[in-house]
Amino acid sequence: MNNKPLPFNKAQIAEIIKDYPTPFHVYDEKAIRENAQKFYQAFSWTPGFKNYFAVKALPNPYILKILKSEGMGVDCSALTELILAEKVGFSGEDIMFTSNDTPYEEFKKAFELGAIINLDDITHIPILEKAAGIPEIICFRYNPGPLREHKGNIIIGSPEQSKYGMTKDQLFKACETMKQKGVKRFGLHTMIASNELNKNAFIETADMLFQLVKEINEKVGIQIEFINMGGGIGIPYKPEQDPVDLNFISEKIKKLYDELMSKAPANAVANNQLTPLKIVFECGRMVTGPYGYLVTTAIHTKDTYKKYIGVDACMANLMRPAMYGAYHHETVLGKEDSPLTETYDVVGSICENNDKFAIDRKLPKIDIGDIIVIHDTGAHGHTMGFNYNGKLRSAELLLKPDGSVEQIRRAETPDDYFATLNF
Ligand SMILES: Cc1ncc(COP(=O)(O)O)c(C=O)c1O
Repeated sequence: MNNKPLPFNKAQIAEIIKDYPTPFHVYDEKAIRENAQKFYQAFSWTPGFKNYFAVKALPNPYILKILKSEGMGVDCSALTELILAEKVGFSGEDIMFTSNDTPYEEFKKAFELGAIINLDDITHIPILEKAAGIPEIICFRYNPGPLREHKGNIIIGSPEQSKYGMTKDQLFKACETMKQKGVKRFGLHTMIASNELNKNAFIETADMLFQLVKEINEKVGIQIEFINMGGGIGIPYKPEQDPVDLNFISEKIKKLYDELMSKAPANAVANNQLTPLKIVFECGRMVTGPYGYLVTTAIHTKDTYKKYIGVDACMANLMRPAMYGAYHHETVLGKEDSPLTETYDVVGSICENNDKFAIDRKLPKIDIGDIIVIHDTGAHGHTMGFNYNGKLRSAELLLKPDGSVEQIRRAETPDDYFATLNF
């Protein structure tokens, strides 16, 4: 039985399919807007609150425009994402550039756009200086290593094993160096986990960053202008999971802020003040993830050592199950209330045995032609697409608040596949 809601029913999808054949991703604009507003409302106490939407999660200009109109900035991590942000109309400090192993020309582009550059490593300072120059504002990505444990997080892994960010010693040296080079404004970033549902993890992160802001202030004599809590707020992919309570996180962070930042004794602060200190995020998944759906048609049923349902989507349309064994809920349209009598592997057509959207999933009996909706594909879904096995990326549709549907990216065609070949 289905217990994850959908913003459309079978009849509506049947109408949409007349114009746009499956597979496609469809995004719910109304729900994306409402969720963005809730996020901002939860943190309205903090001056200058901003979420820099992680473009990698859903790099579609229509979606970015919606989020821009809700007050979000963008977090870019590659040249093309910077270009996309620029084309959508983001500029200057509405762009955060958080990258790693950064190609030199990307520093140049970020610098030209006036983006806030978030340096992943201390060795990037001379590279940035040579490639582009020293900006007025800089942010550093901190990796707490053994001080934080997130061993269960398969997407980022434990901080000690993760390639991102610099150590505490390096962070202090980097602040010192940039101060000497004339940087006037500083930010501090960390991202400990990905798809994290434990709300306390974010409170611990805020605590860690507040302590660090104080220590940097005392030892280096600079005022940190903002802390960037990263992305990583998880979403309830499974029906039995709950969303992260943003109001709870915000209240607890406010308490810490009041205690550690606002009320810090003046003599604890060398030549500087600790506040105002902005709090920002760069969340992608929790912004759009739950409001995207991959709609696909059952095209084969197969009964060998297991029962298979072959669909017209494949892991080129949604890679997360194959990549991380991630769970994505499935609804068979029109059979929402049917008993879950079957156990299926729901598979795509790529010649890799991990091209499976579900393994041993209890579902109603599925027939060829049934429409299956794969939930929570609004982040790290279409964007992870690829062309292996000659597969083509699908269309993306926008379900607007008035119920109409607009195609916001067409499906690839064989011409796209051959476009980079000269023969
Ligand atoms: C540096 C950085 N920021 C933000 C994000 C967005 O994370 P999420 O979509 O989990 O919020 C990612 C995701 O990989 C990231 O690498």
